[in-house]
Amino acid sequence: MRCITLFLVLLCLIDLSLCQDELVISTPVESVRYVNDSGLRVLIDQMEDSEQFMFVKFKASWCPFSQQLTTIFEAVAESFPNITFASIDASRHTSLNYRYDISTFPKLVLFRGNGSIYTYRNQSRTFRGIQHYLTNITGMQPIAVTEPEVPPLRLSEETDYFWFFSVAFVVLVPGTKLLLKYFNS
Ligand SMILES: *[C@@H]1O[C@H](CO)[C@@H](O)[C@H](O)[C@H]1NC(C)=O
Ligand SMILES: *[C@@H]1O[C@H](CO)[C@@H](O)[C@H](O)[C@H]1NC(C)=O
Ligand SMILES: *[C@@H]1O[C@H](CO)[C@@H](O)[C@H](O)[C@H]1NC(C)=O
Ligand SMILES: *[C@@H]1O[C@H](CO)[C@@H](O)[C@H](O)[C@H]1NC(C)=O
Ligand SMILES: *[C@@H]1O[C@H](CO)[C@@H](O)[C@H](O)[C@H]1NC(C)=O
Repeated sequence: MRCITLFLVLLCLIDLSLCQDELVISTPVESVRYVNDSGLRVLIDQMEDSEQFMFVKFKASWCPFSQQLTTIFEAVAESFPNITFASIDASRHTSLNYRYDISTFPKLVLFRGNGSIYTYRNQSRTFRGIQHYLTNITGMQPIAVTEPEVPPLRLSEETDYFWFFSVAFVVLVPGTKLLLKYFNS
């Protein structure tokens, strides 16, 4: 019985930590389409013209690096009006993650109308760096857009929750084992 109670408590903690990414943080901008997985599938299916490009940010709203990238991604989107930009919370909408090899966040993937897929692999995700990358592959030049200030890496409230529950979990698992040992002896 005790064992079951402890298990349920643990389960609740895990679930709560997963709930935190329900919250929306950034204010949507027009240059970026904010989609779920079915929305993204529709956008990919619509790309029939091989000259079309779509740049997608797979993010997790609880991931501070995803949040830090938001302003840069939106500014890059403004500078390439002929590329479709989309953002998906891939920690909530997971059905495409396997196909596009999304295992870490944030991940930037460029889709070409002819079916080619390019993943941005540079760990440094600067405004200019991403622009160069897009110009390199698409051949398009960016229009002039003010370079955004990179926000400091900030643990938001929900990130705090996430870390709190992660830490709580890490502490609770060995703690539970000890308790069980104690009760069983
Ligand atoms: C995905 O988003 C569309 C609108 O953008 C909405 O109609 C649809 O219900 C959403 N699907 C899921 C599974 O949330
Ligand atoms: C976008 O595409 C249109 C039509 O092909 C073209 O006239 C325009 O110059 C392009 N703009 C940029 C910034 O590439
Ligand atoms: C799409 O076009 C690019 C450039 O022409 C080419 O390198 C690539 O192999 C093509 N991909 C497919 C799947 O045809
Ligand atoms: C990665 O990005 C940085 C900054 O944009 C750039 O200086 C560097 O050359 C890039 N590395 C590669 C391998 O493209
Ligand atoms: C894109 O960059 C790679 C190196 O990162 C380079 O080998 C390639 O030639 C570039 N392509 C174009 C079209 O500039």
